Amino acid sequence: MTANRTADGEPSAIQVIDLCKNFGSVEVLKGVSLDARKGDVVAIIGGSGSGKSTLLRCTNFLETPTSGKIIVDGEEVAMRADGRPANRRQIERIRSRLGMVFQSFNLWTHRTLLENVIEVPVHVLGMHRDAATARAFDLLDRVGLRDKADTYPAYLSGGQQQRAAIARALAVDPTVMLFDEPTSALDPELVGDVLRVIRDLAQEGRTMLLVTHEMKFAREVASHVLYLSEGRIEEQGPPEQLFANPRSERLQQFLQTVH
Ligand SMILES: Nc1ncnc2c1ncn2[C@@H]1O[C@H](COP(=O)(O)OP(=O)(O)OP(=O)(O)O)[C@@H](O)[C@H]1O
Ligand SMILES: [Mg+2]
Repeated sequence: MTANRTADGEPSAIQVIDLCKNFGSVEVLKGVSLDARKGDVVAIIGGSGSGKSTLLRCTNFLETPTSGKIIVDGEEVAMRADGRPANRRQIERIRSRLGMVFQSFNLWTHRTLLENVIEVPVHVLGMHRDAATARAFDLLDRVGLRDKADTYPAYLSGGQQQRAAIARALAVDPTVMLFDEPTSALDPELVGDVLRVIRDLAQEGRTMLLVTHEMKFAREVASHVLYLSEGRIEEQGPPEQLFANPRSERLQQFLQTVH
């Protein structure tokens, strides 16, 4: 299958085209499109209830979009007329290329960190346990948790749990990492270590969609910023422009409330 290519020749890692999502009669996403090329870090900002989490959750089919297209690595997700995915196995395959990190960590509490990290590679992707374990140790090392491999999540701080969740998401070598407010449940003193890990990933060219309320961080790591308001992209552009020179009045107001 040929990859979709953007104007400057870089292949798209993920494209979302005219995505709509209704919950009952409430329209939460009203036609959102984005295109992240390999290595792009797309920050998604916006007020509470603007649809940021719904956008990420539709992207990896934790929610069923009402309409629109999702294309990962050039492969379009087949949907039926009612918006439901046509092919469960395709969804599982595509989901395994998207590493999701949630606000609330969502580690498996009855498994050690090592077991958390190797679970999907071994049981879903069929990777050999020894190879998965060696890779898991490397990943835990990268996030500063190698010595906690045999520890259960309950014995770790929120920041450590979130770094473990990032290692777990990286274990499948995802095409795109999806972060939904990865630091908003953390005590302030634990935020820095998690941001450092995400910054390293950005610097090594990992493609990401990053929902965040850390505006300074978004400005520093993002290649592109989307401002969502009431289910639409109200404004988008490079971070310098969006943060220093916002055009829309709503964005100007939003930035005043978060600064
Ligand atoms: N499963 C659901 N059923 C009904 N309504 C929902 C559901 N999930 C989200 N919504 C509604 O959709 C809107 C957008 O929610 P969403 O969680 O995407 O916002 P958000 O931008 O992530 O907000 P926050 O910054 O508070 O996390 C909200 O009005 C929310 O109540
Ligand atoms: Mg949210």
